[in-house]
Amino acid sequence: MTKICCIGAGYVGGPTCAVIAYKCPNVQVTIVDLNQARIDAWNSGNLPIYEPGLDEVVFACRGKNLFFSTEVDKAIVEADLIFVSVNTPTKKSGIGAGFAADLAYVESATRRIAQVATSSKIVIEKSTVPCRTAESMRTILEANSHDGIRFDILSNPEFLAEGTAVPDLMKPDRVLIGSLQTPEGIKAQQALAAVYANWVPKEKIITMNLWSSELSKLAANALLAQRISSINALSAICEATGADVDEVAYACGLDTRIGPKFLKASVGFGGSCFQKDILNLVYLSESLHLPEVAAYWKQVVDMNEYQKSRFSQRIVKRLFNTITNKNITVFGFAFKKNTGDTRESAAITLVNYFLQERANISIYDPKVDDDQIRADITELAPVEAFEKQIKVVHDPYQAAKGADAIVVLTEWDEFKTLNYEQIYAGMNKPAFIFDGRLILDSKKLRDIGFQVEVIGKTL
Ligand code: NAD
Ligand code: UDX
Repeated sequence: MTKICCIGAGYVGGPTCAVIAYKCPNVQVTIVDLNQARIDAWNSGNLPIYEPGLDEVVFACRGKNLFFSTEVDKAIVEADLIFVSVNTPTKKSGIGAGFAADLAYVESATRRIAQVATSSKIVIEKSTVPCRTAESMRTILEANSHDGIRFDILSNPEFLAEGTAVPDLMKPDRVLIGSLQTPEGIKAQQALAAVYANWVPKEKIITMNLWSSELSKLAANALLAQRISSINALSAICEATGADVDEVAYACGLDTRIGPKFLKASVGFGGSCFQKDILNLVYLSESLHLPEVAAYWKQVVDMNEYQKSRFSQRIVKRLFNTITNKNITVFGFAFKKNTGDTRESAAITLVNYFLQERANISIYDPKVDDDQIRADITELAPVEAFEKQIKVVHDPYQAAKGADAIVVLTEWDEFKTLNYEQIYAGMNKPAFIFDGRLILDSKKLRDIGFQVEVIGKTL
């Protein structure tokens, strides 16, 4: 029986390796983490992350061929293949602060593998890392391992998106496996490909050299984010001209060379990946003495920041140039629908902006915990401001009661079907709705009496 260990039981390690266990009954998968609370949650009835379909997958194989544990060393010793799926956040201090990826977790996991492994292993970079990280991992592994032990390193970046992780994993567009193009590297590549071949069609399992594979991950995220910044830049032109950004996106998307996906204008992209990975690419470009390339990609993040501040300013302007002491209701705090994840959510920036303008804010999100909202906001604003000005509410109707404006920041489906007549009746007049996700029926809302403002539209 092949044994797999996954170091890091987060948004990627958990779902990815749970799906491997689900699809490969002959593979034993152990997902390990240093965070005891997270492992306890994976072993409970209340999994630590919300992903549609994940409960079914985990509950079907947990205790059979899927295990969650904090016994990192034991899992490393037993495994044939080891996924390194730890976090690689943007560095907060030191060289490259604000841009470079913090590789401390990758390095500590790598050192642990070298220290405790008693047999040869295939080590797989699952985390998103700068190009040529595999080389550093190999140097660390070779310098610290026991005699006679061989390590082959593969790059196998993950392309799942949160909220659709399970279907993305069950039916991936592609699985990428990079290796050194040596006989041993290619053999290791084949061993991992054989695991995926249990459910992924062979033509979708792509093999290539290590550095191409590492860079492809950063490149794919940069290209996706660039599309969003492009449509958001166009949304500003739409607002200034009377064009409608949904119509423009539709017209452009019909060109098969452009395609319709990922052209939804919004208050700005969030999530733990796009910004981090682009900044990482910017840093890489600068390190390679390519300042023009760095500036090009940096603009994608700058445009995203501009979009958030542009929307905030529009809200204040429409509310007669002041929101001080006004009641603002925020619908949605997660960075996208169908997840409870708030990392880099546009809502964090917007709520902080409203706080600075001394508004009273009530926040409703169907999946984000109160503690998470509090932690995200108080990271940037004083705790007293949070306590005085913010209420986290568990019912959208309650949240909107007495509000001067509702601001939609996450595209949760349920926001489309709320009873807006009822909501309107309980609000201060004139009652405003600002749709930062272009999901509401503006005509219907105007008929009810709302003042409606939508990104990329004037009517
Ligand atoms: P995460 O923070 O949710 O999970 C990482 C986990 O690794 C944490 O639970 C942490 O405790 C654990 N960890 C850190 N160091 C460890 C060590 N030495 N030993 C054991 N456990 C350790 O992060 P994530 O969102 O799962 O992302 C992981 C990687 O995957 C990142 O590089 C990210 O860029 C990449 N990625 C993320 C997504 C996504 O949608 N979140 C998608 C594709 C790729
Ligand atoms: C992204 C990549 O899509 C995925 O392949 C990679 O593995 C991890 O990073 P994720 O961040 O989970 O996935 O979600 P994604 O669907 O890409 O959305 C990112 C952000 O962009 C969200 O805030 C979303 O609301 C926003 N978005 C997305 C738009 O504003 N408009 C769009 O058209 C698409």
